[in-house]
Amino acid sequence: MLGIIGGSGLGELEGVEGARRRAVRTPYGRPSGALILGTLRGRKVVFLQRHGPGHTIPPHEVNYRANIWALHAQKAKNVVAIAAVGGIRADLGPGAFAVPDQIIDYTHGRISTFYARGRGPVTHIDFTRPYCESMRQRLLRAARAAGVTAAAEGTYAATQGPRLETAAEIGRLERDGAHLVGMTGMPEAALARELGLCYAALAIVVNHAAGRGAAEREIRPEELRIVAERAAGRVRAILEQLVMLNGD
Ligand code: HPA
Repeated sequence: MLGIIGGSGLGELEGVEGARRRAVRTPYGRPSGALILGTLRGRKVVFLQRHGPGHTIPPHEVNYRANIWALHAQKAKNVVAIAAVGGIRADLGPGAFAVPDQIIDYTHGRISTFYARGRGPVTHIDFTRPYCESMRQRLLRAARAAGVTAAAEGTYAATQGPRLETAAEIGRLERDGAHLVGMTGMPEAALARELGLCYAALAIVVNHAAGRGAAEREIRPEELRIVAERAAGRVRAILEQLVMLNGD
């Protein structure tokens, strides 16, 4: 079954049929909201809105462990995370799509592992390639089939938020090699790897990052939501193609 984590601008997943809400508890507390179980194009999916009902949970307060655990407990082996991001690379402007292949983590103070003290022996997962390559390739194929151009790689910088970055911070992220910046990619990706999920992200660029392009002077937060909402139809088209490529 495909698990879908909805981000900003994808509050609901239209097109899911026979949807049932399932409120669950995990050993790590409650996920952001009820899981939505249904079918998309006849294939089973489980959907979870990362920011909760009404988009009320900020990135640094999301219970990432509960979210990933809940999807795993529903037997979602494959997970696609929808992520609204700022574009650092000049060609990644508002409305662009990307399937990142690398991550740099700048977050802090987030619980970032299931392997906490007292929960078994010290464990270090491999994270050389943070995203599941087969899911990345399926996402790229799905985007092509949906007629959406998506950058086939990119380094995602995960920042703490909830504020946007300064222009100098974006300069630093760029020198570090980042192409996209968002606030929720970590620890989500690492937790998915810890549970053995095949996880990749579909990034939707909703603004030029601070100090770049049209965001040279300032970023108007209300515009991010508008761009994300405008992209929702294309996101859904990609997901409809993806479920048909999804292995199980
Ligand atoms: N920075 C961080 N996170 C974001 C941005 C940004 O510019 N846009 C959307 N999410």
